[in-house]
Amino acid sequence: MTAELEEEPTGPVNPLRDPQDRRLPRIAGPSSLVIFGVTGDLARKKLMPAIYDLANRGLLPPGFALVGFARRDFSNQDFAQIVHDSVKEHARTPFREEVWQQLAEGFRFVPGDLTDDEAFKKLRETVDELDVNRGTGGNHAFYLSIPPSLFPKVVEKLKQHGLADEVAGSWRRVVIEKPFGHDLKSARELNHVVESVFPPEAVFRIDHYLGKETVQNMLALRFANAMFEPVWNSHYVDHVQITMAEDIGIGGRAGYYDGIGAARDVIQNHLLQLLALVAMEEPVSFDAWSLRQEKKKVLAAVKLPDRLDLHTARGQYAAGWAGGTKVKGYLQEDGIPQHSATETFAAMRVDVDTRRWAGVPFYLRTGKRLGRRVTEVAVMFKRAPHLPFTATETEELGQNALVMRIQPDEGITMRFGAKVPGTMMEIRDVNMDFAYGGSFTESSPEAYERLILDVLLGDPPLFPQHTEVELGWKILDPVINFWAEQGQPEQYDSGGWGPDSAHEMLARDGRAWRRP
Ligand code: BG6
Repeated sequence: MTAELEEEPTGPVNPLRDPQDRRLPRIAGPSSLVIFGVTGDLARKKLMPAIYDLANRGLLPPGFALVGFARRDFSNQDFAQIVHDSVKEHARTPFREEVWQQLAEGFRFVPGDLTDDEAFKKLRETVDELDVNRGTGGNHAFYLSIPPSLFPKVVEKLKQHGLADEVAGSWRRVVIEKPFGHDLKSARELNHVVESVFPPEAVFRIDHYLGKETVQNMLALRFANAMFEPVWNSHYVDHVQITMAEDIGIGGRAGYYDGIGAARDVIQNHLLQLLALVAMEEPVSFDAWSLRQEKKKVLAAVKLPDRLDLHTARGQYAAGWAGGTKVKGYLQEDGIPQHSATETFAAMRVDVDTRRWAGVPFYLRTGKRLGRRVTEVAVMFKRAPHLPFTATETEELGQNALVMRIQPDEGITMRFGAKVPGTMMEIRDVNMDFAYGGSFTESSPEAYERLILDVLLGDPPLFPQHTEVELGWKILDPVINFWAEQGQPEQYDSGGWGPDSAHEMLARDGRAWRRP
């Protein structure tokens, strides 16, 4: 075990695990959320609607306050109008005037630049005023929805203006969005800056995949049931495929995406977190410390193949068709340099060097402008050791599979062979389905609802710790460095399933990607 796995538990225990607390509704206490970069896309499409949805579900305190900080000359009323529009357009739950009115009373806007001391003074006055008028009790979370290059400035200013200081019984927290660096070295530097101002337990790193119901359900599936765990190992599992496919291109995100690419954008975080959850051992409990320990053990055991040329693939989308519309290739998108080598598709094989997973490859793939939007984790089983049938009888029988459908169409599919009705023995693959929509009446909250609530509750299990981020970069850095020496990525057709090299990569191992 390495030193990084041995740290002592810190932070509160997950109240969901405590039988007494579990009966209590999880409602945030007096607090405010301050959003830096409040005019950005994330705030508009995800954060503001999630706050309204939480209020609508009765999970925010009556005096909750939302403070927007941005370089715009808005009044509180202008800000309220922006939140209103975003809620009307993107909220999950119905608009209710009385909920809105109460929430809107807690809106404040602080205009200013992230380097401007006057603006931070104003922010300080604003949170003090909220403590008096809204009863926020000195509890304030600062959400940095801004490029990571600006994190150091903002946390420094928060410190300088006393905004990071917890006063008697109150809390201060900081929420940061990925990318947490662009390689191991920069991630360490970034972490150093953030943790020199906020203690580790006050830093909440968002990986919104962990906020998804279906991702949390992977834990329920594995550890609440008896029937899966016995086969969850190299005796029965042939390989695992983790796919995150998107049909969209990069849209207006050229500035963020170019130079980052698919591997840094989603493999480093979302896909490696999915891998950790599917491969980890059972945690002692679901408190943050125990859960992170198990995830870290898996990530520390991940090994890359020696031949990265044979076991990784990358591509860039070319022009084509998506949903019946003609779409541009990546190099023709606005703001993308003509010779950009940024990959929009990435695939790789990794192995998990543990007794449970010896010899079981994990294949990860992600891409933009693929055939359809789907994220799934497919556990592919070995064939039965003996088939008492003729070859013709089983020619349409594939591998048994358990597919966790993260999105859309959330649920779980089991695939196995069944007899085709008739006078002959003929066996064909069939699917048995669990669909969230069919089994539960309530709809799933958005990932950001869950995560914002957890920040306000100070409940950390669903937030990756810095060590997990570092382990992710340790896995990915060699691949990214290798690709950097290989020139342009292969082009693939928009609307298809990625570059030929990705298919060849699996074919070499005698396998094929699932067509989701
Ligand atoms: C983000 C990536 O983390 O996840 C985006 O930066 C990607 O590039 C998005 O589009 C996908 O999220 P979801 O929840 O729609 O799968």
